[in-house]
Amino acid sequence: MNNKNFVSWKAPSNIALVKYWGKLEGQIPANPSISFTLTTCYTETSVHLKKLENPSDDFQFDFFFEKQPKPSFHPKIVTFFNRIYKYLPFLKDYRFEIYSENSFPHSSGIASSASAMAALSVCLMQIEKQLNPNISEKDFWQKASFLARLGSGSACRSVQGSVVVWGEHQSIPNSSNFYGITYPFEIHDIFKNYQDTVLLIDKGQKQVSSSVGHDLMHNHPFAEKRFEQAHTNIDHLISAFAQGDLEQFIEVIESEALTLHAMMMTSLPYFILMKPNTLEVIQRIWKFRQETKTPVCFTLDAGANVHVLYPDSYKNEVLQFIKDELIAFCENNQYICDRLNSNY
Ligand code: PMV
Repeated sequence: MNNKNFVSWKAPSNIALVKYWGKLEGQIPANPSISFTLTTCYTETSVHLKKLENPSDDFQFDFFFEKQPKPSFHPKIVTFFNRIYKYLPFLKDYRFEIYSENSFPHSSGIASSASAMAALSVCLMQIEKQLNPNISEKDFWQKASFLARLGSGSACRSVQGSVVVWGEHQSIPNSSNFYGITYPFEIHDIFKNYQDTVLLIDKGQKQVSSSVGHDLMHNHPFAEKRFEQAHTNIDHLISAFAQGDLEQFIEVIESEALTLHAMMMTSLPYFILMKPNTLEVIQRIWKFRQETKTPVCFTLDAGANVHVLYPDSYKNEVLQFIKDELIAFCENNQYICDRLNSNY
């Protein structure tokens, strides 16, 4: 429940199907991306606020992660607040206590910045709405996504909508580089409750952060072709979504995942975030798909974990396959069953 001194929001994680990799000044994506919003992986954030007698020169807040004070997160929040201050001038009028919790295990290798920045942005917009009650529903969500983008690019896709597009694309009206929009076209029923089982291959800290990775797309020898390809892949995905064409869907999704990692391997300096077990899992998914004709495929984010994607109607057989063959490649046999959030 929200009152004047307390706001809260639960924002889900998302997994990109067409990937955002490379950005311009001001968190503008170098190419459009599209994602599934997830269900069981989320961040829940609450903010307690106290009006200051005199507005402060800097930002006054405490941050608690899983109920413990986390001063190590402060610089990230200060950077975020500095970026959004001109859009939310009330930020220096209050002292905030920010509490954040993830539904997924800490250091699981699952990026939490998308859900965390989305949850915090919606909380801040709730405060904004108390101060400007006339803000329309549409402007509220658009600005929340706009702010989330300034926290972490992919966070703007975790604010509203179950399938979300971020970045201008000529086939998608109203698509924007500044915020995510709900995918506006028809999606075949086969994608309803689409399953995403996240295999936790490596829970360690990544050697190269996403922001360094994005930066390495400047002067990257294949960047321009890659950005063009993302546009083309979105067109292919639009048609796969409409027709329920799983073959085309799988081709786009796996090609996007491998291209993302190919960009990392061909950056200077080059780097590899996949682990040997990532490749083992991919080979086994391909073999299983070929032998059983089950439409299961994988995607990767900027790490070693594998997202196994498949229609809800194939849940039993794919989960059995995962248990029989893939779990052995996960750290401590850990995996998370998630799915497309059709109601967000
Ligand atoms: O939002 P960032 O800056 O952490 O970048 C996310 C990049 C990928 O997860 C690899 C792709 C994407 O579109 O989410």
